[in-house]
Formats: sequence, structure tokens, C-alpha cells
Amino acid sequence: MSEHKHLKLGVFGFGCVGQGLYHVLNETHGIKAEIKKICVKNRNKSRILGSEIFTYDKNDILSDPEIDVVVELIDDSNAAFDIVKSALQNGKHVVTANKKMLAEHLTEIYELQLKYDRSVLYEGAVCGSIPILRNLEEYYDNDLITSIEGIFNGSTNYILTKVFEEKKTYVEALKGAQELGFAESDPALDVKAFDPKFKLTIAIAHTFGVFLKPEEIINIGIDKISTVDLKYAKENNYKIKLIARALKSDGKIYGFVIPQFVPTDNMLATVRNEYNAVLVEGAFAEKQVFIGKGAGSYPTGSAVLSDVSALAYGYRYEYKKFTQGEDLIFSNNATVDVVVSFPVGTLISNHDFENFKGGYQGNGHQYLTGSVKLEKLKAWYEWDNVSVILAPELNLVPIEKNKKELLYA
Ligand code: HSE
Repeated sequence: MSEHKHLKLGVFGFGCVGQGLYHVLNETHGIKAEIKKICVKNRNKSRILGSEIFTYDKNDILSDPEIDVVVELIDDSNAAFDIVKSALQNGKHVVTANKKMLAEHLTEIYELQLKYDRSVLYEGAVCGSIPILRNLEEYYDNDLITSIEGIFNGSTNYILTKVFEEKKTYVEALKGAQELGFAESDPALDVKAFDPKFKLTIAIAHTFGVFLKPEEIINIGIDKISTVDLKYAKENNYKIKLIARALKSDGKIYGFVIPQFVPTDNMLATVRNEYNAVLVEGAFAEKQVFIGKGAGSYPTGSAVLSDVSALAYGYRYEYKKFTQGEDLIFSNNATVDVVVSFPVGTLISNHDFENFKGGYQGNGHQYLTGSVKLEKLKAWYEWDNVSVILAPELNLVPIEKNKKELLYA
């Protein structure tokens, strides 16, 4: 693609992010891009733009030789993947903010870009307006990143903030996140921590060069957190944050999304409402934090527009950590320190812990703390009324191979 090309865009979807892109593009001078067509599904919805720009036929965009870039902003991840594939096959570059689609098809999307010699950019898919992917690719291309962690979901951070600071109920706070356009159409993706897990899957590929399937990563949501947990947090000067993290230890990568008690003087505790944060730790640069709006029409629209602008300069992800790969293996075989709370009578005891640190009981509720295998936490999360929250100090300990494996090693 020639430098500073004036780009014609074909946009799929005109919801929260699509409209955000439209406004941000209109307000930004110096961007050499214009929207030629917008493909939408619903013919009966009233729109803020005249009908001439809309189409209901995807081929009006995919087969239009004048359109250089397909901007994919629809909800349905399977349909989105078909659009991305066809766009690349037809010689178009792609910008997308669809984290579910990307996480589920990352390897294919990497291969399709090579096959068709076209670029797929997706900064808006991970932590909204925070420019994290291009930084991981470009700025941190030669630093040895040891961990990446942070708040990767705006809706749950908004809910936790409102519940903590304004004493709103969980249901009221979730409704607020939906009304403000932060939540997914299926809010279970947010509150059960699937959405931040999709983002973590993408971030791990650009941080450590490891392509995972999202189902390999353990996700525990905020939906089991009880008023008893909120009380415990306040009494101990903690906030509760839904933390996504991936870290390197003993040549393996560990990664998961689990709520955590965070001391109020920790930087992540100060990140409120729909803001996200990403803390990158490298061997030489040490800790650096990015903070910005993780959800919402304009912030996400601005990340999408930044990708469009990058395309005008011929930018593409090189997946440097993968191509220079260390062949790191992903593992869930570790223990972490946790506080687990549940109604008295639930079948959890100190014997479930690898290293039991203590517990207490009051008002029909029981708390146990200590280190527990990640897989066990995942199983507990499925039980009714069991709340799993990481202790402020993670203390991740890899579990050594068992004796039988060692015998045959
Ligand atoms: N539902 C997502 C969130 C939208 O709340 O973070 C932005 O990806």
C-alpha cells in the first residue's frame, strides 16, 4: 500500500462502536479515510445517517473494488469471522474490534494475513482506547516481558466501582453498564469473565508469542461475589478488581482471569468505572502502566480509527514474539493464594488446600485462605454460593511434575 493513501472504508455494524467510529472520524482532521458504505442487519431501525450510505447486502462492500478496508464491528463472532475471511480473500485490509472472534480464530487470522498479504489490525479489541497491542509489538519488541496484568473489562470494573462506592446493588450496577453501552449483548460474557479472557488470549499472543484457544485459560467472574466479601474487603482496606494476567515462570506461561483483593494503595485499586489498566513488567524497563477507557462508543471508536490511520501508512502486526519464538508452553498447573468464602455446610475444607493458612466463621459463612490449585478454583466457581477471590499476594507456585512423569522423563 502506498504511503498516506486515502482509504475508502466499508463498515459492518452500526451499533455503539460503529457510531463511535463515525463521530470520531468526522471530528478528526488529517485522517485520510472516508466511509463509503455501512452494512447493517436490521432494516427497521431508525438511523442517525441517511439511507443512501446503508446496505443490507454484504457483497456491496466485499465485492466493491473501490473499498480498501473492511471495518468489522458486528456482534456475532461467527458471521464476523466469515466477513474477515472474505475481505482478506478479496484483497482488503481489515480492522476489527471483535475480541471473541479474534481469540477463537487467532491462528487462522495470522495465517490468512500471510496467505493474502493483507493486514488485520485490532487495537480496539483489547482494553478499548489503551494502545497496548502496538506497544507490545513495537516498543517491547526487544525487552523480555515477564508479566502483563490488569483490568481488561470495563463493565465489571464499572459494576465493582458502583457497588463499592455508591452502595448500588449488583443488578442496578449491571443495568447502568448496559445503559451506557459498556456491556456485551450477553452480559454473562462480562460478569463471568469471558470477555477479558478473550482479550487476554489476544494479548498473550503479542506478549509471549503463544497462540492459545480461549478455553485453555481459566476465567472466574464477579457474579459470585457476595456482600460478605465486600464487607471483608472494606474491613481489610482492599478493593476487589477483576484481574487478567499472564506471567512467565520457569520457562512456562501461566494466565488466568480471576477477581482479586487489591490493597487500596495499589495503583490498580485507583482505576475506577469503565477505565481499564495494563501493567507490563519487563526485565529491564521494569513496571509500566497504561490506563484508559476500556469500553464505550468514542474511546473504542478512537482505537478503531487509529488502526485505520495505521493502515494508511501500511502498518501490520509482525507477531514478533511468535516469529522470534522461544516456544513457551502454557500451563495451568500451579497453585495460587486465595480467599474462598461459602455458606457453612459447603463441602470445602482445609484438606482442599495445598498450603492451608487459616480460616474463620461468622454469620453462617465460612472463609478459608491458603494456596489452591488453579483447576480446583475453576471447579469451585461452578458451585452455588462459593466465592473465589485471589489474595492480595498472588504467590503463584508451579506444581512440579509428579513422580510417575519424572520416572519416564
Ligand atoms: N463489554 C466490554 C467491556 C466492552 O465492558 O469491557 C469493551 O470491550
